[in-house]
Amino acid sequence: MDGPRWWQEAVVYQVYPRSFCDTTGDGVGDLAGIRAHLDYLVWLGVDAIWLSPICRSPMADAGYDVSAYDEIDPVFGTLQDFDGLVADAHALGLKVLMDWVPNHTSIEHRWFLERPDFYVWVDGTPDRPPNDWLAALGGGAAWAWDTHRGQWYLHLFLTEQADLDWSNPAVVEAMHATLRFWLDRGVDGFRLDVVHCIGKGHDLPVLSPEQAAKPVEALDLAYTHTLLQGIRSVLDEYPDTTSVGEVYLLDTARVATYYGTPEAPELHLSFNFPGLWAPWDAAVWRTRIDEVEQHLAGPGRWPTWVLSNHDVPRHRTRYASEARSRAAAVLLATLRGTPFLFAGEELGLEDAVVPSQQRVDPGGRDGCRAPLPWTADEGHGWAGGDPWLPWPPDAGLRSVATQQGDEGSMLWLYQRLLAARRGSSALRHGTFAWLPSPPDVLAYERAAGPDRRVVLVNQGAISASVELAGDWEVEIASDHCSTAAELAAAVAVVLRPALGNKGGPAGV
Ligand code: NOJ
Repeated sequence: MDGPRWWQEAVVYQVYPRSFCDTTGDGVGDLAGIRAHLDYLVWLGVDAIWLSPICRSPMADAGYDVSAYDEIDPVFGTLQDFDGLVADAHALGLKVLMDWVPNHTSIEHRWFLERPDFYVWVDGTPDRPPNDWLAALGGGAAWAWDTHRGQWYLHLFLTEQADLDWSNPAVVEAMHATLRFWLDRGVDGFRLDVVHCIGKGHDLPVLSPEQAAKPVEALDLAYTHTLLQGIRSVLDEYPDTTSVGEVYLLDTARVATYYGTPEAPELHLSFNFPGLWAPWDAAVWRTRIDEVEQHLAGPGRWPTWVLSNHDVPRHRTRYASEARSRAAAVLLATLRGTPFLFAGEELGLEDAVVPSQQRVDPGGRDGCRAPLPWTADEGHGWAGGDPWLPWPPDAGLRSVATQQGDEGSMLWLYQRLLAARRGSSALRHGTFAWLPSPPDVLAYERAAGPDRRVVLVNQGAISASVELAGDWEVEIASDHCSTAAELAAAVAVVLRPALGNKGGPAGV
């Protein structure tokens, strides 16, 4: 039998390039800034980086409005910088994933003028959009009237982002070419932006009024699967490449279908956002994990876990607690599946408070996108000049330099967790089984052959204990001092068999 593939065992780190590190003094992060800190990512212990969009873009949606799929936006650097970044990353053993935006392009893409047949146009009159679909990001109707053509075009996101019509074979061909462009440059795969929406075709499905209010969360069409099989074939031309789809359906059973079947594979991995939205509540988490164990098991269906990204308030902000965020990091690193970290979560960054005059994102997501502080001084290791967004709270104390000097910091906790994961086949790809525990404690065992780990996460407000069979010792405690015998509130531990523990199930 084949062993686990690299993307199943990897820890993926999402770099938000605008906010990672600026080397030019324009206040916006760039490729040189990422290159300069690859050694940090190696020290942290991640295996792959996913770069949020860096292609040419007028930045109406921070790069998710691509105007040229084969160019680097000048704000980030050049193709040469990109090639250098990939070469450096590979030399350090890091894989590189690009963000690929297949559902829509910027209306400044030359296709929008030269190839109108690439987009979804509908006849009508300017007073009445073709249907009641609403755009995401608070933009009102998902339709914009083009006075020149006297037609409506579809935009599931901003008016500046026109939806592609993937029922046109020329679109399929052109978009496949954009994948090959980056694959030929050596990238290891892609994160596929809202990829579950691409199969709309020209004959749009009928949605209920509730679904029409949020089409991005409702579109789940057979034709998308056909298109994904085609995309997978392109990736399969390049050995060892991968894909992770942003399938924004808040239903794990539906998400699971986007992996395809062994005979007709689709995505290698998919985000599964119900976990991202789970509150700090053991009953909810138990359900989320059960759903994953039920639907994302078996050949070709490997789960992913994510707590934060560039679209939602950071979990440090959502959970409103340092202790909970630390315990959540233990969950992220030890559940069965590929963990995705969002740059800055390892620092325990909270969302920045962004005054109205500094707001950039029309979708109100600036807070989680604040720049990363590298050093404690006022410039925080950026090239100078005001960063494009304000610094997050306590930027000096939360900076990489400060936390690297404090072994009790959140940063060191992440570093130790990733090292523990790397050192344990049970954590990387082992089985998952619940252990008996008090209701507020998540207790599970991961096992791969003789290698075993027990993880206990106390999501309650008081301390708890879990009885285990055999002797176990603490490998990592999120507060650096708890034990299985006494697990403080909002604390998690990873346990390994103590000397003399001869094996056998940990549950009593
Ligand atoms: C999902 C991306 O994560 C988000 O940032 C973006 O606004 C939309 N897709 C549209 O591309």
